[in-house]
Amino acid sequence: MKLPEELQFIENARMPLKTTTARLDGQVCVITGATSGVGYQTAKRLAQAGAHLVLVCRNIEKAQVVKAELAALSNAEVDLVQADFSNLDDVQSAASQILHQFPVIHVLINNAGVHMTTRKLTADGFETAFAVNHLASFLFTRLLLDRMIASTPSRIIQVNSEGHRFGGLKLDDLDWGKRRYRGLQGYGASKTAQLLTVWELAERLAGTGVTINAVHPGEVATNIGMNNGLLYQWYQKYLLSHILKDPHISGEALYYFAAAPELSTTSGKFFNLTIEEKPAPHALDRATGKRIWEISEELTGLHHKIKTMENESLIPAKNPGFTIAS
Ligand SMILES: NC(=O)c1ccc[n+]([C@@H]2O[C@H](COP(=O)([O-])OP(=O)(O)OC[C@H]3O[C@@H](n4cnc5c(N)ncnc54)[C@H](OP(=O)(O)O)[C@@H]3O)[C@@H](O)[C@H]2O)c1
Repeated sequence: MKLPEELQFIENARMPLKTTTARLDGQVCVITGATSGVGYQTAKRLAQAGAHLVLVCRNIEKAQVVKAELAALSNAEVDLVQADFSNLDDVQSAASQILHQFPVIHVLINNAGVHMTTRKLTADGFETAFAVNHLASFLFTRLLLDRMIASTPSRIIQVNSEGHRFGGLKLDDLDWGKRRYRGLQGYGASKTAQLLTVWELAERLAGTGVTINAVHPGEVATNIGMNNGLLYQWYQKYLLSHILKDPHISGEALYYFAAAPELSTTSGKFFNLTIEEKPAPHALDRATGKRIWEISEELTGLHHKIKTMENESLIPAKNPGFTIAS
């Protein structure tokens, strides 16, 4: 029996994973949040395939351990960049460091993410899940975009979630000051905002040789949510983790998006692991997408940050990224 379209994601999650044997020798792959879970597994898979890894992590001690593990696994080059993605100045510094250090970027995987059960504002005054999951990945991508356009063919992968189906995005209440905060909806709002900007960016990138897609990495046992209270941690550790899958499937799936030759021109799509899927209707509302694009540019101070980086000659003046921004 075929499930109705809105429940198709259940069936898609059971479909066999598509994989690739294509290698990425020497290709510069930037990945955020590689110290745990999905990002860690993806970094391992990329290293095994010979990629030159740039791991953007908030905890440099954890990142050093991962770097040593990757070095033991393969002879891939691994560089570390420290940044806390709940702080937009840190995101800018990370982008700036990468632009200084790497003349080309072939793959960008925006993976760092959080699930909050309570409303916490970042130092910049944003709701944390919205800031880390959406604003930071939006800003980081935009600041690296010109380098990626100059490095084509190149690919951007947004690690999104079936959690976008929880909804929660209200343009007039992005920081949840007017409503009671609900963790799943806060998470849903951040992932919806990210998806809406994927469609916008894919359209603007058409013909540049840069692709962008969003991927749900499976329901997998990781540390997500472990920043929350003891009750949630207990639920995650003793109940939830037992019904979740091993995150190596996420690493394999994300590697497929980074490397598979058959995806070289695929852009502007959402995938449940490696199966293309239709997102929830609210995540396809292009009018909301255009507003969230503009709002995200404003909230991240994108134009100002681009100007600063132009002045440092990190981004060419009158650059394509800026054209894309306006
Ligand atoms: N697990 C799932 O079933 C699932 C399902 C759908 C989507 N996802 C998505 O998959 C992505 C990875 O999550 P995960 O499940 O692998 O969780 P995880 O094990 O908690 O890993 C999250 C990664 O993001 C980093 N991170 C968190 N907050 C950060 C911040 N403020 N600045 C910089 N880095 C930060 C973490 O760094 P630390 O190591 O320092 O904490 C860690 O490396 C997220 O985008 C999540 O929404 C996961």
